[in-house]
Amino acid sequence: MKPRLPARRRPSALRFPARPGRAAASLLACAVLGPTASACSGGGAEAGAGATGTPGAAGVGDPYFPKLGNGGYDVTHYDLRLAVDRSADRLTGTATITSRATQDLSAFDLDLLGLDVAGATVEGRPAAVRRTGGELVLRPDAEVADHLRGGRTFTTVVRYSGAPRTLTDADGSREGWVRTADGAVALGEPAGGPAWFPGNHHPSDKATYTVAVTVPEELTAVSNGELTSRRTGGAPGSRTTTYTWRTAQPMASYLATVAIGRFRTEESRTGDGLPVFTAVDSEVAAEAEPRLARIPEIVAWEAGKFGPYPFRSTGAIVDRAEDSDYALETQNRPYYPGPPTPGLLVHEMAHQWFGDSVTPADWRDMWLNEGFATYTEWLWSEEKEGVPAERSFDEAYADDANWAFPPARPPDATDLSQPPVYGRGAMVVHRLRRAVDDDEAFFALLAGWTGAHRYGNASTADFTAYAEKATGLDLSRLWSVWLYGDGRPEDPAAPDLPAR
Ligand code: TRP
Ligand code: ZN
Repeated sequence: MKPRLPARRRPSALRFPARPGRAAASLLACAVLGPTASACSGGGAEAGAGATGTPGAAGVGDPYFPKLGNGGYDVTHYDLRLAVDRSADRLTGTATITSRATQDLSAFDLDLLGLDVAGATVEGRPAAVRRTGGELVLRPDAEVADHLRGGRTFTTVVRYSGAPRTLTDADGSREGWVRTADGAVALGEPAGGPAWFPGNHHPSDKATYTVAVTVPEELTAVSNGELTSRRTGGAPGSRTTTYTWRTAQPMASYLATVAIGRFRTEESRTGDGLPVFTAVDSEVAAEAEPRLARIPEIVAWEAGKFGPYPFRSTGAIVDRAEDSDYALETQNRPYYPGPPTPGLLVHEMAHQWFGDSVTPADWRDMWLNEGFATYTEWLWSEEKEGVPAERSFDEAYADDANWAFPPARPPDATDLSQPPVYGRGAMVVHRLRRAVDDDEAFFALLAGWTGAHRYGNASTADFTAYAEKATGLDLSRLWSVWLYGDGRPEDPAAPDLPAR
């Protein structure tokens, strides 16, 4: 079904090459770092003399995005210092990335698309830089490489600038750096992160973040987490404000955002004392603000079902409808193109548990995000609007669009945003609720699941194993028919549990 969400994505008929064109010429750091940078001489991927490690892999083997993410290290913290011009067209950044080596490394990659790299250091020493497609290959000098043993923590600094790109993702929608009427917004799902900062851009590598953004005084820069400082300075006429945001819980890079514009901001607290920070495009503020007033009610209602809210603040970023054509569950503070309906708020807030706190191990597990967020809408309709979830299930069952492929096996990247992931994903959750046949046990299972993988990653196999263990039921038919099966089962009344 096309759920109660507004048209979120464009139809899949338009297919795009898996990766947008690459323009950036490869750049050797020697050119900018000068002849004293010893690592420049080699200029290739061959191991330097004395280095004992090997290069980290250029991807982590995602079934749809083989080059997304990088092997050989895990990022623990990103410190991003960004300056953005008045038109939000140009960005100058310094990314300080703290990582832990997972192997002995002679070189490693970061994912970055477009933008010019002025230089990079690893452990404070200049590193050779090479660009190939979306990969930024860093080769530290031999002495530093000798230190990069598995288990060691190391710091990488990349200085970069340029006009960040708007990418067209596999289903034709815009991600990466998206210009808006009064600024820009960074949207990262599934592969937009490399458009605005170098990193390990696969959902399996979660990290904490500090994002400091300097903008002309009349603009506001909003990001994830909590605002830790806001400082205005500079000469009259060219005054700028630096907004510093801190995300203390691990975050997947596709959930990282920065939104720049003429926002009206509001700070409040929920009844439980959770800070709420909202930023609304001033053009739509009058319509959006009363809708956002329901955030505390929705967070409390979802926490009652899924377990404690995972983060230290909540809120929303609201742009205009013409700015983008989909909402995104950016961590702490979802992004909405225009004033959100209650159903859309419920959906994006549900992702704070399903997607943001418990993050898919790879992009094939997308239904763990969208199936659960869609099912949360069904639950909301059931409790608040008197529409039984069983009726939402029946409607989804009747909709041909949900039967194109099994939710746990989208054929390719184009399909990640398609109805089977959402509607049929929600049907799986509903079948599970029916099989459990006891709402108290069913909701305990959901809260147990979010608790077991809080702040981590989990796969479909983790979920099916968890559900079987928690219920003690043989759920194999439920999985084989509803989660993995091709086509619509003949008889939805047939039981999912074996006869006993
Ligand atoms: N996750 C977003 C939502 O549910 C929608 C979305 C944005 C999406 N980008 C995507 C879905 C890429 C699949 C693939 O509101
Ligand atoms: Zn969603």
